[in-house]
Amino acid sequence: MKYDVMLCKITEKKRLTADVFDLTVEAGELAEAASAGQFAHVYVPGKTLRRPISICEIDRAAGTLRFVFQIRGEGTAWLADACPGDTLDILAPLGNGYSLGNTRQKAVFVGGGIGVPPLLEAAKAFGENAAVLAGFRNEESIILKEDFEKYGNRVLIATDDGSFGYHGLVTDLLKGLDFTVIFACGPVPMLKAVCRTAAARGVPCQISLEERMACGIGACLGCACRLKKDGTEFYGHVCKDGPVFDSETVVWEG
Ligand SMILES: Cc1cc2nc3c(=O)[nH]c(=O)nc-3n(C[C@H](O)[C@H](O)[C@H](O)COP(=O)(O)OP(=O)(O)OC[C@H]3O[C@@H](n4cnc5c(N)ncnc54)[C@H](O)[C@@H]3O)c2cc1C
Ligand code: FES
Repeated sequence: MKYDVMLCKITEKKRLTADVFDLTVEAGELAEAASAGQFAHVYVPGKTLRRPISICEIDRAAGTLRFVFQIRGEGTAWLADACPGDTLDILAPLGNGYSLGNTRQKAVFVGGGIGVPPLLEAAKAFGENAAVLAGFRNEESIILKEDFEKYGNRVLIATDDGSFGYHGLVTDLLKGLDFTVIFACGPVPMLKAVCRTAAARGVPCQISLEERMACGIGACLGCACRLKKDGTEFYGHVCKDGPVFDSETVVWEG
């Protein structure tokens, strides 16, 4: 199965912070087909465009998918009002996720804010071989720390205001670490810094881009991004060619 539309019943809902919610849905075959780093396109009543939300966790045995999202506008506010027992119209699994490779190598996961949830399913596979560096505005906005720890990951937190963990940029935490592969998701300045570190250390790095999207399946130009391969630049689609890319293939604008 590539991707499909399914009406998925919400089985669990949690509020993680003032504006971040955690939904688990029954997704049957979609959960079976999904992999770390892929996303779902969620229908919001009254809106022409679906809303892309990354798959945070997959439970194939239970046939469920977990989504963690932040309220940004009307679509995510509607989603935050949904309750267990309600159904969501979901198009999934979409895009190319993280290529995990050998999960016994020392991996480092770098996430910023709402870029942290898309890393959980991949970090889970590395267990004690993974360090997770997660950056947030302050202590109140920290999410999923215990979830990563439950799977054996070593979690280091950075906050902008110093209210918890390291006071400063999450990417500063890369300096003291030993690793052979990087996986990242978060704001563009953070991703650029991660890519610079990867290039300086000669370590492979995969980053997830969260470009604005329309169709989500490669049929429009709503998510064009500049890529390069063998020295040649070209335009690709974040939804179909990504959202996860090898850091060396991304051409940053500006
Ligand atoms: C591949 C991918 C994965 C994502 N995963 C998550 C996630 O796991 N958790 C989470 O909280 N958010 C995630 N986002 C961002 C999320 O899609 C937007 O916050 C959401 O679409 C905003 O919709 P809205 O109606 O609330 O806001 P509005 O601002 O009203 O949205 C208006 C339009 O802009 C689009 N849009 C607005 N902001 C974004 C954005 N940052 N990225 C893409 N489209 C946007 C909407 O889809 C919609 O078409 C992801 C985005 C992408 C592209
Ligand atoms: S959103 Fe239509 S091509 Fe990517």
